Amino acid sequence: MKFGYFDDSRKEYVINTPKTPYPWINYLGNQGFFSLISNTAGGYSFYMDARLRRITRYRYNNVPLDMGGRYFYINDNGTVWNPGWSPVKTELDEYECRHGMGYTIIKGKKDGLKAEVTFFVPQNYDGEVQQVVLTNEGSSAKEFSIFSMAEWCLWDAQDDCTNFQRNFSTGRVEIEGSTIYHVTEYRDRRNHYAFYTVNDEIDGYDTDRDAFLGSIYNGWDNPETVKAGKASNSFADGWSPIASHYKKITLAPGESKTLIYILGYAENPQDKKFASEKPANLLTREAWVLNKEKAYAMIDRYNTPEKVAAGLEELRTTWENLLSIYKVDTPDDKVNRMVNIWNQYQCMVTFNLSRSASYFESGIGRGMGFRDSNQDILGFVHQIPERARERLIDIASTQLSDGGCYHQYQPLTKKGNADIGGDFSDDPLWMIMSVAAYIKETGDWGILDANVPFDDDPEGKHTMLEHLNVSFYHIVNNLGPHGLPLAMRADWNDCINLSCFSDTPGESFQTYTNPKFKAEGGYSKIAESVFVAALFTYTGPAYVGILEHLGKADEAAKAQAEIDKMKKNTMESAFDGEWFLRAYDANGEKMGSHECEEGKIFIEPQGFAVMSEIGKEEGADIKTLNSIDKYLNCEYGLVLNNPAFTKYYIQYGEISTYPGGYKENAGIFTHNNAWIICAEAYVGRGEKAFEYYSKIAPAFTEETSDIHKTEPYVYGQMIGGKDAKNFGQGKNSWLTGTAAWNMVAISQYILGVKPEFDGLRVDPSIPSAWDGFKVERKFRGDVYEIEIKNPDHVCKGVKKLTVDGNEIEGCIVPVAGDGKTHKVEVVLG
Ligand code: GLC
Ligand code: GLC
Repeated sequence: MKFGYFDDSRKEYVINTPKTPYPWINYLGNQGFFSLISNTAGGYSFYMDARLRRITRYRYNNVPLDMGGRYFYINDNGTVWNPGWSPVKTELDEYECRHGMGYTIIKGKKDGLKAEVTFFVPQNYDGEVQQVVLTNEGSSAKEFSIFSMAEWCLWDAQDDCTNFQRNFSTGRVEIEGSTIYHVTEYRDRRNHYAFYTVNDEIDGYDTDRDAFLGSIYNGWDNPETVKAGKASNSFADGWSPIASHYKKITLAPGESKTLIYILGYAENPQDKKFASEKPANLLTREAWVLNKEKAYAMIDRYNTPEKVAAGLEELRTTWENLLSIYKVDTPDDKVNRMVNIWNQYQCMVTFNLSRSASYFESGIGRGMGFRDSNQDILGFVHQIPERARERLIDIASTQLSDGGCYHQYQPLTKKGNADIGGDFSDDPLWMIMSVAAYIKETGDWGILDANVPFDDDPEGKHTMLEHLNVSFYHIVNNLGPHGLPLAMRADWNDCINLSCFSDTPGESFQTYTNPKFKAEGGYSKIAESVFVAALFTYTGPAYVGILEHLGKADEAAKAQAEIDKMKKNTMESAFDGEWFLRAYDANGEKMGSHECEEGKIFIEPQGFAVMSEIGKEEGADIKTLNSIDKYLNCEYGLVLNNPAFTKYYIQYGEISTYPGGYKENAGIFTHNNAWIICAEAYVGRGEKAFEYYSKIAPAFTEETSDIHKTEPYVYGQMIGGKDAKNFGQGKNSWLTGTAAWNMVAISQYILGVKPEFDGLRVDPSIPSAWDGFKVERKFRGDVYEIEIKNPDHVCKGVKKLTVDGNEIEGCIVPVAGDGKTHKVEVVLG
């Protein structure tokens, strides 16, 4: 069952009922100011950091689920309704929500009155613009009132939802004309403020939540002031400040009125915090006056429909450009819309926000993940390489000089998060992978010389190359009894915690150090991760390639020897006969072996092992992939492990605490499905690669939205696995490494257009039924118009490759570097 449709020509998903099976959201903003907005206008805004600079309040895990946002209420002759249906939930005569690239349009119609609200965050602007167009489509004149509503968060979202003894007494506002300012703590220790304004005279306002609602027993669904058709002109003093504008409107039949609201954020320099004069119309209880110059300038930028139209056009062109770098035309519409629109869009969102703020991530728990952000770059780097470069330097600066990494950092402070600490065994490798991806995309070898400090030597002069070196050797220097990497607190799978042995509620599986291992430095020196071994052999060659390019042949040979040794160790100690083991636990026992009672096979190490060609001569690659198909494949994707754990295995950590079929315990973790898609494509089984791709790609789940529940235009982290009661149900949509990895899987492995250090590889692995396809790729300043022909209907194999008519050996198109358009023709066979 569907709840809308894709409008590809406008790059929108159109939702035609407010009652989607889960709130279907969009993100506005891609620089400093961000908003989450659901199809009923729920959600919130923040500046840069979802925890430390929360602008509007949102209550997670609420009942009903999505309650709180920026709401417009209309009182038309006693009938109160919202254009987005919620929160009043008066049945609408018409409803539509269009989520587009950085904007959302919500339309509602009731009794002949139509309200169309366009929400967006303009480029280089710290505010959300909301244009409301009201049209009387009836045959008689209409007199009605409209109320806006935004609830301020008292800046630190964590504190805001816990520290009530203080917070209930700190709220402060100022009101000037049609603008309501939020200035809590401004006088003392903050130099930022927020405002909510409308470009017209108002007939009243409310800034105190209880006054707006009329009673502490009311919710957003029945505010007294709206029902009464009149604001109460309340002035907030502590408690919960809000911003609501009230306006009376009369429209003749056919007449329209446009109102532009702006929810903005601004910072003042310390010496310009206060205004010297107090305007006569200013409402405040303070002796000081906020310096509002920045707000005035921001308001002036979008206070007419023409300016709004220009802002939207600028946003549209920005996305047009971002999406013009990799464009595909395949026989499959769903592939086209994923690659050309939605997957790339989601990659931008994950790049911006890592795992911080979604409808499943509260924005207060996690900052930016070291592992997560590095992987996000893989799917984003071609869009704005300069931002990727900046991010790489930020992330690397939180690394320690021995190659260890803080697992997370706060974007506002750019400092490693001491609460979660380090010792996640895979972290350093993702740094190598993302820096290599950046160089392959841009050819900017200069990044290796960039000065990047270490967290434990902030003033020291160090280069990015040194970071790669310590990353590589952090693995080599921390091997266990089988010569495999130590598992430490966790590897990619945060829930395989082999040094934890937790038996006390509340202990974090990721950060708790069992006394047993404390003396050894915090983790077992026995437990080893086969996943990290495979990731090392897959990623290591990029490091070797970098050293070779720099002419450091000796170092390259030394690193290659370590990779070869790791492959040998893995094959000798970690091949289980039909697939690779997952780990050795702290007791030296195998995890993920046919000998195990449960959890006999795990997905994570397999794809990287196959692509590293470990044991290829002995057929380990195909055996492994066949085992995955046999044990992990199901209707909605590949489960993480099988059989699911039904008991608590204290030696494995968090994983077995989940009911079977969810999350890391045999859920369909879409992130690592991509690694198998890549591996299947790598070995040339394009059919299988595509089968796995299409099981989880959002556009393919659209038809079963009633089962899948989350947005059909973006990936979620997980889908309930075959052991789950809710088999096929999506969860944790939006912020997941799945976005980047599936972008890599489809664009670089299936469609096969992959940047390399010395050119653009074109080596597809597709369903044999395809006659061919086209890719337009902007790469290092040139444009490559690539046409792939598949006359023999094979999956893989480049028979002939020509660039501008000249045949080329192999399948790497050399960089022309002339800024021109080049025709690449590839014949498979
Ligand atoms: C979450 C985390 C990611 C981790 C994965 C598996 O998606 O953000 O870092 O690799 O779970 O545990
Ligand atoms: C929990 C989640 C896992 C996530 C981790 C990070 O263990 O299950 O997915 O990556 O927390 O904090």
